[in-house]
This record gives sequence, structure tokens and C-alpha cells, in this order.
Amino acid sequence: MEIIKATGRDITIHVNGATISYDDLGEGKIPILFIHGFPFDKSSWQPQMEFLKTSHRVIAYDIRGFGKSTPGNEKASISIFADDLIKLIDGLQVEKVIACGLSMGGYILLNAANRYPEKFAALILSDTQCIADTPEAKEERYKTIEQIKTGGLNDFAEGSVKNLFYQESLETKKEVVEKIKDIILSTSPETITGTLEALAGRDETCFSLDNISVPTLILCGKEDKITPLVQSEFLHKGIKNSTLHSIDKAGHLSNLEQPNEFNEHLNHFISVL
Ligand code: MLT
Repeated sequence: MEIIKATGRDITIHVNGATISYDDLGEGKIPILFIHGFPFDKSSWQPQMEFLKTSHRVIAYDIRGFGKSTPGNEKASISIFADDLIKLIDGLQVEKVIACGLSMGGYILLNAANRYPEKFAALILSDTQCIADTPEAKEERYKTIEQIKTGGLNDFAEGSVKNLFYQESLETKKEVVEKIKDIILSTSPETITGTLEALAGRDETCFSLDNISVPTLILCGKEDKITPLVQSEFLHKGIKNSTLHSIDKAGHLSNLEQPNEFNEHLNHFISVL
């Protein structure tokens, strides 16, 4: 196992045949580790990293294939992404982390927390869900894969931001919208199509909610069209030690659309742990 002692930006660690890039900032006993959604990278956690780094140790990493992490040789799956997360925690030589996952980051976190509960002191599940894809959702993903293979990423990026953001954010937060579009366009089409397949093939984790005993914060944009609030309500019902907050005027990217409110919830949750 590779042990990493460095802190700062764009540190690398080799896990399961991939090179993972991560930022490790600030100081604190139990790090807060952020897992991004699809198809983003660690920079999508910038408002949270900046806000918390003065008082806590915060870590955000690029999932294999995204940002500055290499794709490795394994076929993409939520389970291998979760294996990478566990290896990263081991490499950091910390006993436990407080982990925060948005959407696909939440799928990864629920998968990892089910198999390695001892690694997590608390969970933050943002704009996510525990269900698997319906047959219709799978079909949509396979259609998108074909569209990307024939037409490239431009239409995919345009269509994605329309779904990701609340209508008002599309008009008033143009800089954030453009940044997300840029991240999508700078990701390799192979990583995007491979991850779409991984998302379509993921197992549900709803069966495991009852086993989660650590404090869990659930956050969701009220206007989230991709993982609607009802899915967060379901998580809240299933996880005994959980708190749910819905965020006004936010779609699927609640951490970027309403960063102040998101950060306040995070800060409060962490401060009472
Ligand atoms: C994400 O934001 O990670 C994705 O939208 C998740 C999904 O498509 O299921």
C-alpha cells in the first residue's frame, strides 16, 4: 500500500492500477473527504474546500478517468470507484473520514460505507439516491453512449447543464454553468461513456440503509430533476441517525448553486459531531 504524507494540491496516489489526483488542505483530526458527481472533477467542490479549509482538513479527489486521475485498466464500475476510495483513505493513513458525496459520489459512498462501515465517522449524502437505474433509465444511458460515440461531447454537455441546474441558476450563475460545461468537455469521451455504462449497471444500495449507524446529513436541491427530493426523503426514512435539509433555488448541483446555504449545513453538522 502506498502511504502519502504530502499535503497541498494535485497530490497523486496509485490505487488499483490508477493514479488518483487529490487536494489535501487545512488541518484537523478527522478529514472531510469530498467525492464528486458525474461527469465532474474535484474542482466542483471548490466552494466547500475554500470555506472549510481554514478550520478543518479537507480532501477532494478526482475519480479515476476524471480531472487529473488516470482511468486505469479496469472496466469502470461504482464498486471499483468505491474500492479506490477505500485505498485512498488507507493511503492517507487516517482511521476514518467524514465523507461527502454528491450524486454519483453518493452512489460510491453508499457502496463503500456498506462494505467498509468502519472507515466512516459520518456521511453527507447530497443530491443522491440508493436505487438502481430503471430499465428506461438504462436505455437512455445507452442511447447517450451511442450519441457521444457518433457526435462527440458538445450536445451531451449542452443537454447536461440544462438538466443539472435550476432554471434560475442557468440565467444568474452563468460562470458556474460555463465551468461545469468546460469540465465536461475536457473529460475524455471514453471516460464519459464508460462511466455511463457503470451508472447503468450499478446495484441498488437501499437494502443497506438500515445498517448505517453514523450521523448522516442529507442535502438536496428542491428543484433537483436528476435525483429528486423524494429520493433524499427515502434515504432519510431509511437511515436512522439522519437529518435532511432541502435547499431552495437549487437543482442537482446544490453545492454550487447555493454554496452559502450548503456550507452552513455542512458546518453545523460537522460542529455537532
Ligand atoms: C451525477 O450527477 O453524478 C449523475 O447525474 C448521476 C446519475 O446520472 O445517476
